[in-house]
Amino acid sequence: MSHKPFKAVIPAAGLGTRFLPATKAMPKEMLPVVDKPAIQYVVEEAVQSGIEDVLIIVGRNKNNIANHFDSVPELEEKLRAKGDHDKLAKVEYSSDLADVHMVRQGEPKGLGHAVLRARGHVGDHPFAVLLGDDLIDERDPLLTKMLEEYDQRGATVIALMEVDPEHIHMYGVAAVEPTDEDDVVKVTQLVEKPKKEDAPSNLAIIGRYVLGPDVFDILEHTEPGKGGEIQLTDALQELASGGGGGGGVYGVVFRGRRYDTGDRLDYIKAIVQLASDRDDLGPQLRPWLKDFAATI
Ligand code: UTP
Repeated sequence: MSHKPFKAVIPAAGLGTRFLPATKAMPKEMLPVVDKPAIQYVVEEAVQSGIEDVLIIVGRNKNNIANHFDSVPELEEKLRAKGDHDKLAKVEYSSDLADVHMVRQGEPKGLGHAVLRARGHVGDHPFAVLLGDDLIDERDPLLTKMLEEYDQRGATVIALMEVDPEHIHMYGVAAVEPTDEDDVVKVTQLVEKPKKEDAPSNLAIIGRYVLGPDVFDILEHTEPGKGGEIQLTDALQELASGGGGGGGVYGVVFRGRRYDTGDRLDYIKAIVQLASDRDDLGPQLRPWLKDFAATI
């Protein structure tokens, strides 16, 4: 690695309309998944892959997120006085986790616009973008592999996952060519939310990207695309077709467990799956789930 250390950028400024009214006064990234907000899993993932500097792009309900990663002296004092060290450790853990910074996206003009807001903080570092509502199970690490590919290939790296053709219209989709590695592909074209019949493959972009600072110049002139939003996929398409002077775009095909907590059904599945795998909740939850499943 001959570049500056990676930073992480976590966009969390979307409106979260699929989760209204829960997201009227709270970002969807703060919805609890078992007993932690979704965004804490994402910050933990960045830290686990060796990134220490995390920038969160926040929207109108920014205080919720800022408070979560700040210390809460009065709560900590109460827990300390009660001798409740377990809960104290949980409270302190989220404030000590990483060097967390915030920047505001004044208006939710799209994911590409949110990423461009990171320019001042990221500067000329390479960086990982992790969507704040997209959880990758820690037992199936993905980001570490993506950072390695960025280092080896000197190119933009995105995460891809095979999806059912019926759902392909909800994603950015990649046309790809094989490489010398099984789960790594060269991306030749990207299309944002295509119709099923126009999709170039069944490989959808999921919420992890490793980018060089050259993407900011492209985002500066990226026009609003699908849905009138400035799309990160459109900027990546420019990189894939040789723009930006970089080494193109590669995709790491992910075959592990992923939970899109911005979607209500996936959110419920994430809670059930993660809780049933946990030592403290699983032994009671699993038999109950079996009984419940027998009644439906
Ligand atoms: P989504 O499209 O899933 O978010 O954006 P949304 O628009 O909030 O969702 P719905 O459809 O209304 O329910 C993907 C990610 O990009 C962030 C979101 O917070 C989410 O993490 N995002 C999106 C921004 O930060 N800013 C934007 O302008 C748009």
